[in-house]
Amino acid sequence: MNAGLPASRRLALVGYRGTGKSTVGRIVAGRTGRPFVDADAALEARFGESVRSIFERHGEPVFRDREERVLLELTAGPAAVIATGGGAVLREANRNALRRFGLVVWLTADPETLAGRLRSSPSAVAGRPALTAAGTLAEVADLVRAREPLYRDVADAEVSTVGRSPAEVAGAVLAVWVQGSPRLDE
Ligand code: S3P
Repeated sequence: MNAGLPASRRLALVGYRGTGKSTVGRIVAGRTGRPFVDADAALEARFGESVRSIFERHGEPVFRDREERVLLELTAGPAAVIATGGGAVLREANRNALRRFGLVVWLTADPETLAGRLRSSPSAVAGRPALTAAGTLAEVADLVRAREPLYRDVADAEVSTVGRSPAEVAGAVLAVWVQGSPRLDE
């Protein structure tokens, strides 16, 4: 597929767990022939420990410190498409690094859809630490509400993933990327 020439050189995907950031990022990078990196996978490789284990053995603050370190490295590195972890937007340093990096696209879905996706993917749930004491839907709803302003703050554009396959979402993201954004074209 000829995807056209993206207006800005680089693209970061943000959004809650289950929005398909990694899958979509990989498809977009493949279609444009640009290097892709998944920030959580890079973090696991860098520290030789799974995200879940970092949460369990060291706690969330240590994970967030490591996440920031890796994200600052990645945004200064050769990757053109980055899929971030769902909580990467929590730190201002990360949001600033993502804005400097390039176009930031926020993948969205309602909490019910997200909880359903997480529940229907046992391997994804097993590999992910629980972020609060609440059950899945309550946790998702609370965190999506709390994080929404941060996603909105960092993102140049929003793409809904509801009722769309990863390939369809990738097509929508590509359309945004090719168009560019007012902020980046200033
Ligand atoms: C987190 C999301 C995860 C991972 C970690 C924390 C979060 O990434 O970074 O478990 O706080 O939402 P995904 O969004 O790729 O699952």
